[in-house]
Amino acid sequence: MHNATSLRKLFLGAALAALFVSGAPTAVQAKKAAAAEWPVVTSPVKRDDAMEARIAQIIAGMTLRQKIGQMTQPDIRSITPDEVRQYYIGSILNGGGAWPEGKKQAAVSDWVALADAYYKASMATDMAVNVPVIWGTDAVHGHNNVFKTTLFPHNIGLGAAHDPKMIREIAHLTAKQVRATGITWAFAPTVAVVQNPRWGRTYESYSSDPKLVRSYAREFVGGMQADLKGPDAVIASVKHFLGDGGTHGGVDQGETRSSRANLIKTHGQGYYGAIEAGVQTVMISYSSYTDSGTGVAHGKMHGNRELITDVLKGKLGFDGLVVSDWNAIEQVKGCTRTRCVQAVNAGIDLFMVPDDWKKFIDEAVADVEAGKIPMSRIDDAVTRILRVKMRSGLFDGSPMPTVAAASHMADSKVRSLARDAVAKSLVLLKNSKRNLLPLSRKSKVLLVGKGADKVGSQLGGWSLTWQGDETDDSDYPLADDMLSALQKTVANGGKVDFSADAAGVDVKAYDVVIAVLSERPYAEMKGDVRIPETLRHSDRYPQDLAVLKAVSGKGVPVVSVLFSGRPVYANNLINLSDTFVAAWLPGTEGQGITDVLFRAADGKPNRAFRGTLPFDWPGAACPEVSKKPVLFKRGFGLTAIKTSKLGKLVEDKLATCPALPE
Ligand code: GLC
Repeated sequence: MHNATSLRKLFLGAALAALFVSGAPTAVQAKKAAAAEWPVVTSPVKRDDAMEARIAQIIAGMTLRQKIGQMTQPDIRSITPDEVRQYYIGSILNGGGAWPEGKKQAAVSDWVALADAYYKASMATDMAVNVPVIWGTDAVHGHNNVFKTTLFPHNIGLGAAHDPKMIREIAHLTAKQVRATGITWAFAPTVAVVQNPRWGRTYESYSSDPKLVRSYAREFVGGMQADLKGPDAVIASVKHFLGDGGTHGGVDQGETRSSRANLIKTHGQGYYGAIEAGVQTVMISYSSYTDSGTGVAHGKMHGNRELITDVLKGKLGFDGLVVSDWNAIEQVKGCTRTRCVQAVNAGIDLFMVPDDWKKFIDEAVADVEAGKIPMSRIDDAVTRILRVKMRSGLFDGSPMPTVAAASHMADSKVRSLARDAVAKSLVLLKNSKRNLLPLSRKSKVLLVGKGADKVGSQLGGWSLTWQGDETDDSDYPLADDMLSALQKTVANGGKVDFSADAAGVDVKAYDVVIAVLSERPYAEMKGDVRIPETLRHSDRYPQDLAVLKAVSGKGVPVVSVLFSGRPVYANNLINLSDTFVAAWLPGTEGQGITDVLFRAADGKPNRAFRGTLPFDWPGAACPEVSKKPVLFKRGFGLTAIKTSKLGKLVEDKLATCPALPE
């Protein structure tokens, strides 16, 4: 009996043969046509006939309103457990900055109590068969919404580490953190293959290398979902389908212009890896898609039936559930945030309608009753939702954890893995002084920089709050910023003095200056650097240039460490540094940085630099219009023993960038 895959191969082979026989396009053109075809990928999670029969039997006993309730996902700030019962709600989420009872420092037990209340409410409806609710959360660098959780480096740093096995372990320990709070679904991994570092979500991308993204997607999903049913298993959500990282000018939620072939070859890779690992949910992208080969503008992805149904569910054989993004359906032409027939018919199964969910339910019921949405589409959506819930064991009983599971948030295992990931993520871009690194722990260190004593500068967005702002070090009692990491590293006669701006400091009294350069935290569109802004870091953060000017050229070596969510144009900062390290957004374990910068306590070298750039590093303030857009190619990275012959870099004077050709 042929399965879909072999049938597809058969069809493709027959089609190519037909082409030859008809003498139509040449072999090269036919090969190109085949290459522009979506790959055959196979999920290890097979259909279970008994499960499918049970799903059909449950659906047969559901009313239309119960079915639409299953397809609705409110935010916890706008729905009570009893409303989950009343409205037959299938899923809830906590958006960034949503915590139990609105408490930023809510305890793990508060999360578990709320999850248990929602679960119990969903099992107390008047349905013929109760369907347990599933809670989704953005655990994108650890379980980052929860107080006192160990946070891993954001994806950009993990991409620099080039370590797929580590990704699997990070996903596994993140799943243990998530399950410890009673939650069973994470909106991760992001598999954007970012083309332009102007995008505010560059740091959520592993790399511009599609092959690395595919291998990471496979390992992350495998590590997070495990065998789908264990106490540590969490359903993953590969996102954002399709082409989120390729928008014109790097504009968030913008227009991705790509040939079909490039969509397949570049932007699709993370989905192939995730499906090969059995991913059970896919989140749709806010972006729109214009086929640069044909010029056809296909509009917003949330209305794209061809890519969601014909490709993702058809050709790629994805049989889990497809979820919309936060109010994203309102961006589809002719839609509102509570009504979008096009998005339902395009193949989206679960709708993230955080606030106006009651109206969404009423309007969707009306649209089905009016014949605008076929009941078969509703039944397909609910089938997929129930299939994911059954596969994940939700029907087998309460997913609530033991009290002991709370230790998984920041136990020694998770902290040492996070610290190891930080060390592996660091990329040495300049090292002009022979034998400067690794530093002695007995050094007299002057630490400067506005972000050096603020752990928030190394966490980025999606850290307790959506934007990673409105927090301070008291929100991260277990974390190490650079100051505390140095204080735990330097000893035996060494010392660390801190001055944010080095004002009035006699630099010559020290053996070395460590200068922390940093971006403010941001997420999504709030992190975009849009034309005419340049990619020059010091345009946005002049204090970083000022502090380097204050400490450089005094006969004391300057080691600069940059916390950023993207590669930036930094020639002026690199010129003022003897050593320059890209540290990305390393998370809570700041000692991962000092592990590499300093020798071990016994004076021997500790950890070597091994990170390499996951993206090209800009060589111009406006790379789009420069003849020398790249300073360091993706894959570049020095080791401490290798000094760089960088010399003084030319400093681009452009203060603004010209508009891109439309
Ligand atoms: C956001 C993001 C998405 C996230 C969702 C829920 O807008 O685009 O990545 O999972 O909302 O927070």
